[in-house]
Amino acid sequence: MTTPHSAPYGHRIAAGLLRELLVGYQITQALYVAARLHLADHLIQPVTIDALAKATGADHEALHFLVRALVGYGVLQRSGDLYVTTEVGRLLEKDRPDSLRPTVIATGKERYQSWGSLLQTVRSGRPVFSAQNGVALHDFYAEHPGAAAPFNGAMAALTNSMVDQLIGSYDFTRHSQVVEIGGGLGVFMAEILHRNPSLRGSILDLPHVVADAARALPPRILTDRLKLISGDARQSVPENADLYLIKMVLCDFPDDDALKILRSVRKAIPDEGTLVIFDKIRTEVYDDEVSRRTVMSALNLLVMTGGRERSEEEYRLLLAQAGFELTDVMRTEALDGEIHRVVAMPGEVAPLSSGE
Ligand SMILES: C[S@@+](CC[C@H](N)C(=O)[O-])C[C@H]1O[C@@H](n2cnc3c(N)ncnc32)[C@H](O)[C@@H]1O
Repeated sequence: MTTPHSAPYGHRIAAGLLRELLVGYQITQALYVAARLHLADHLIQPVTIDALAKATGADHEALHFLVRALVGYGVLQRSGDLYVTTEVGRLLEKDRPDSLRPTVIATGKERYQSWGSLLQTVRSGRPVFSAQNGVALHDFYAEHPGAAAPFNGAMAALTNSMVDQLIGSYDFTRHSQVVEIGGGLGVFMAEILHRNPSLRGSILDLPHVVADAARALPPRILTDRLKLISGDARQSVPENADLYLIKMVLCDFPDDDALKILRSVRKAIPDEGTLVIFDKIRTEVYDDEVSRRTVMSALNLLVMTGGRERSEEEYRLLLAQAGFELTDVMRTEALDGEIHRVVAMPGEVAPLSSGE
């Protein structure tokens, strides 16, 4: 995609560009419906609209329009009366390990609904999700397993897509015991342990996620080398590991809760231990593709959780408040360089200020 403001287009092209940007909501829902109706699984082989309507139970005419729209956006392709998925569409198949179906479903449902009230977040600075649903996002998932599953699946697929670059960005061999905070379905930890046979690990996550991880992880992984622990990292985390990992979790929280998590880690970590955070780092550049995605993701966090994509300086300050010294920041190759690796060591523990 080109940068919208990068050229003097003239009115006709500028208006066309704006109209194209404006239909983003239609494309999101077209993909969501395709995912819900399992179109990609029905269209592995070329199929007529008649057969597709029968297989999905959808209205023939409306389905035909949807299918043609998806052809227009390169998700499906047509040959005579038959339709089949393209390489893009095949990513919506249910059972492939890199399936984006859970991501599309999580995006088209809760995110889509909350983004419909973006104005409220921009006016108030507060997450619209909790205002709409009466609970914070992760508490909502605890109460709604049907919504939690696509979210956890989406995070697992995202992690799968970057696991090589992340593991390649840090030397795990000098550690023996690692705890991952908010490790989701365990994709990252399972791969770290697989590649480092002398390492033992624990994953701490909320109870409903730990239950899903126990079902999702292959039994060969759940040996005495990997423990799943239910809990709230704002309260406490397992003690005495020499490496603590936090990947794409702190961004889900505003500073006060992120600080509680970091302070739990500071209490648990030995003096010679290491904390490694993998997350997006916000820069003040807005006009390249990567930073534009980071800014959109920052806005998404504000809408959904009240969390933050933080700058390097914001991480340094937050870590210092929790008693860590930030010692290294490196841009990894994950997500085209969006994900950074932050290393911190235990330092002076700052006294709590009143009210904390
Ligand atoms: C955005 S997901 C990231 C998952 C995983 N780290 C990854 O990168 O794929 C945030 C994770 O933090 C977990 N989480 C949220 N609040 C938590 C809390 N208070 N204590 C422990 N884990 C929490 C969520 O259940 C979820 O698995």
